Amino acid sequence: MNITLRQLKVFEAVARHLNYTRAAEELFLSQPAVSMQIKQLEETLGQALFEQMGKKIFLTDAGKEVYRYSLAIASQLKEMEMVLEEMNGLHAGKLTLAVASTANYFVPTLLGMFIQRHKGVTVDIDVTNRENLLKALVANTTDFAIMGQPPDGLELEAHLFLENPLVVIAPPDHPLAREQQIPLRKLHQETFIERERGSGTRLARERFFAAHGAESFGETMEMSSNEAIKQAVQAGLGLGVLSLHTLELELILKRLVVLDVENFPIMRHWFIIHRQGKRFSAVAEAFKQFVLTESQSLLTVPSAETAA
Ligand code: PGA
Repeated sequence: MNITLRQLKVFEAVARHLNYTRAAEELFLSQPAVSMQIKQLEETLGQALFEQMGKKIFLTDAGKEVYRYSLAIASQLKEMEMVLEEMNGLHAGKLTLAVASTANYFVPTLLGMFIQRHKGVTVDIDVTNRENLLKALVANTTDFAIMGQPPDGLELEAHLFLENPLVVIAPPDHPLAREQQIPLRKLHQETFIERERGSGTRLARERFFAAHGAESFGETMEMSSNEAIKQAVQAGLGLGVLSLHTLELELILKRLVVLDVENFPIMRHWFIIHRQGKRFSAVAEAFKQFVLTESQSLLTVPSAETAA
């Protein structure tokens, strides 16, 4: 049986008005076009749907049944439209983010404000290091990654939105805490506590030291979280190079100090990154615009007043 949705829509209007002219007006069709649709529907169904008595038309018994079904089908179609609108809309969508461990010190603040405006949005966040973020982007398992600048050559679009200064940290009673303009070579005798390989912080620190002809430290220890490094530095195990974003509380509470090292801070930046040509849901598009236009006014980078 080849009934079209268009025939059912025309039929529903004629049945509701019991009048071809009014149905035609409502549907912006000519009256012969409406009559043609009804005739074709009756032929397909093999039944008369209307009967004419004098100038009036009435539904036949078959017509009454078809009317009942046409109302149910119209309401199901409406419901389907609404569900799809909601899926595309800004109130019930889902956002998938992959976030550098260091960026996770400010991303929850941003998300809190975004979700306040778009209640009902759900967010799936994966917090991991730079190397895994690049893998997630290449595998297309995330809408966006929030991380430092991506390497060239991958088919990615990156938008800068915030500064990310990296500083050298020490416990407050460290002898270097009293010095000013500490030359990099003076750090050679120090033990450093490094992030794991694959971390953007570590990569930036290595590149910076190499660029300034200072490739080696006294000794290094490796820890795979910013929190572990802060604890270790506080405990006097060595110095660390971390993003200021991770240090807000420790600096306020004076549990750690920023050393005044020559050429520091290393100025990195945060980017919101996605695959080139990715098709976004309305929620994902709104999030990207929100980050690009509002994050600078909503977030503060902790201040790096040095100890000396
Ligand atoms: P992280 O930082 O991988 O060291 O947490 C990300 C970045 O700076 O790119």
